[in-house]
Amino acid sequence: MATTKFELLVVVIIAFLTLDPWRRNLCLALTQDRLLVAMTLLPNATHAGAMCLDGSPPAYHFHSGTGDGAHNWLLQFEGGGWCNDVKSCEDRASTRRGSTQYMSRYEVFSGILSNDSAMNPADFYNWNRVKLRYCDGASFAGDSEYRTPTIYFRGQKIWNAIIDDLVLKGLNHAEKVLLSGCSAGGLAVFHHCDQLAQLLPEVKSIKCLSDAGFFVDLTDITGNKTARHFYDSLVSLQGTKYFQNKKCMASFEDSVTCFFPQYAIRYLQTPFFILNSAYDVYQVRHGPSMKSQKPNAECFAAVESVNRRNVY
Ligand SMILES: *[C@@H]1O[C@H](CO)[C@@H](O)[C@H](O)[C@H]1NC(C)=O
Ligand SMILES: *[C@@H]1O[C@H](CO)[C@@H](O)[C@H](O)[C@H]1NC(C)=O
Ligand SMILES: *[C@@H]1O[C@H](CO)[C@@H](O)[C@H](O)[C@H]1NC(C)=O
Repeated sequence: MATTKFELLVVVIIAFLTLDPWRRNLCLALTQDRLLVAMTLLPNATHAGAMCLDGSPPAYHFHSGTGDGAHNWLLQFEGGGWCNDVKSCEDRASTRRGSTQYMSRYEVFSGILSNDSAMNPADFYNWNRVKLRYCDGASFAGDSEYRTPTIYFRGQKIWNAIIDDLVLKGLNHAEKVLLSGCSAGGLAVFHHCDQLAQLLPEVKSIKCLSDAGFFVDLTDITGNKTARHFYDSLVSLQGTKYFQNKKCMASFEDSVTCFFPQYAIRYLQTPFFILNSAYDVYQVRHGPSMKSQKPNAECFAAVESVNRRNVY
C-alpha cells in the first residue's frame, strides 16, 4: 500500500510539474524574490534580416553582473522544440515560440540565471546573464525564407544580431563566457559553440554546456529513423546546412547527419560539457517508442515504465 501511495504522489507531482500555469505558481511559491528581467528588443536587426518566423524583431533578456563576476558572461539559449514543415512553422509564427509579439516582456531569472547565491550557488549568480529568446524553430541555425505564406527562417541571423548587440555591452572584453541552453536550446549550443569562439577572438575562456540537447540518431521500434526524417525536413526547409560544422559537413554526404550532436561533437574544438539523462523523457517518447507510429501497445507501455522509473 505504501508503494501505491508513493506512486500516486509521484504521479501527482509529475502532473503538477507538466502543467504550465501550475508550474509557474509553484515557482512563485518557492521563490521568495523573483528576479524579473525586461526584454531587450532589437528592431533594427530586422534590417539585417534577423527576425522571428513572423517577421517580428529578435530579443534577449540581460541582467548585469556584479563584483568579481562583472567580467564574466553566461549566455543561455531558450528551448522549445522545432518546426520542420510549412504548416508547423506557420502555426508557430503566431505563438510565443515564433514571434516576440506574443512573448512575455519579462522573464523570471531562476536556476542558473538567478542572481541569488543561495539559489544559484555555482559561480554564475553574479555574472552577466543573458537569455536569448527562441523564435526561429530551428535551434537558431537556419537562414532562408518561404514565400506564400511568408515565413522567415533566420535563426542564424538572430544569433549574430544578438551577439553583435552584446558586444556593444562589453561581451568581447569578457574574461570568461559560458554558452548554455536546454533542449532545443541545448542543441543550439552544439551548433554555435565554435562560432562563438570565432566571433569573440579576444576572449580567452569560452566554454559550452548543453543540457538535454544531445538528440540521438535512433531507429525506433518500427525500424524507422524518425528523428532523422524529422531533422532532415527541418534542415532542408530552414537552410541550416551552411552553418553546421564545416569539417563535419565535409565528412558526410547528406546535410542532416551533422545536425546530430553525436556526429558533430568530434569536430568541435571548444571545451564542452554535456548534461543528458540516459532516459530523457522527450527522446524516449519521440525516439524508440514513437507514439505517432502506433507501435505495439505492450512495448510502448514498457518504454513508458522505464521512463517513469528512471526519469522522474
Ligand atoms: C535604429 O536605426 C535608426 C536609423 O536607421 C536609428 O535612428 C535608431 O537609433 C536605431 N535604434 C536603435 C535602438 O539602435
Ligand atoms: C538581484 O537583482 C535585483 C534587481 O537587479 C536586485 O533588486 C536584488 O537585490 C538582487 N538580488 C541579490 C540577491 O543580489
Ligand atoms: C518514417 O517516419 C517518417 C516521419 O514520421 C514518415 O514520413 C515515414 O513515412 C516513415 N516510414 C515508414 C516506413 O514508416
